[in-house]
Amino acid sequence: MTKPLSTYVVEADHFAVGYGERTILHDVTTKIMRGSVTCICGGSGCGKSTFLRAIIGLVPHKGGSVRVLGEDVNALDEAAREEFLSRVGFMYQNGGLINSISVLENLKIPLMAHTKLSEDVVEELVYHKLAQVQMTHAVHLLPGELSGGMLKRAGFARAMILEPELVLSDEPSAGLDPVTAADLDVLMVRLKQELGMTLIVVTHDLDSIKRIADRIVMLESGYVRFDGTLSEALASDLPLVKNFFARASKEGHPGVQSLWQHYEGA
Ligand SMILES: Nc1ncnc2c1ncn2[C@@H]1O[C@H](COP(=O)(O)OP(=O)(O)O)[C@@H](O)[C@H]1O
Ligand SMILES: [Mg+2]
Repeated sequence: MTKPLSTYVVEADHFAVGYGERTILHDVTTKIMRGSVTCICGGSGCGKSTFLRAIIGLVPHKGGSVRVLGEDVNALDEAAREEFLSRVGFMYQNGGLINSISVLENLKIPLMAHTKLSEDVVEELVYHKLAQVQMTHAVHLLPGELSGGMLKRAGFARAMILEPELVLSDEPSAGLDPVTAADLDVLMVRLKQELGMTLIVVTHDLDSIKRIADRIVMLESGYVRFDGTLSEALASDLPLVKNFFARASKEGHPGVQSLWQHYEGA
């Protein structure tokens, strides 16, 4: 019998992690709803990447608890951990592809490792995933032959190949031009809407946040300072949140003004 899907994909309760003696996240309490996009924001070094890694149990646990996809990630044995990891896709900054083999061969690896499907079926699944990110034309190219935007899309296809329930992405728009970054945002929103995926995205790109975020979690010095919807963030009186969003109007990106009106009117 399959387990019923929990409403919350991540449930962190006074969760703390760190490296060696040093605690990085002191107290993180938040719930992340299935089928949503949550943006993790905050200054450089505040622990955003650490939070993503901690979600998959890669940072030593110091206190509190975190349940991810219903599992206590710090209490899984090796077999359970393997099964858990096949339900989470991690999108690496550089796409996470092996440079010496084609996009097709790269995407076949997780399927060959985690399923008993024949090679024909595996290839078909890879083509299907690449079609979802508009990359079928690049199937035989090497990662080094892809543009920045193509590399990100291939990285997404790789992260999604096992149909994970949760996708974690660390600064996906870093190094992309605004148009390519906007395309990637459209892709992430489609994954949520069409496949019911849950995405947790570390980003400080304000345009992107306004396009994709259902919720925003803002960290500072290892504590959650704000946790709410995008419209709550835009209306917040907290100096940290206000300063963060004030940058948008100062930068004066075209389109931001109309988005503000859209959210303020909502
Ligand atoms: N593997 C690690 N070992 C020790 N310290 C680390 C490690 N990774 C990150 N840190 C430290 O943890 C803090 C938070 O880092 P990070 O989560 O990468 O911040 P952010 O992604 O918000 O910029 C930083 O002070 C960083 O130096
Ligand atoms: Mg980081």
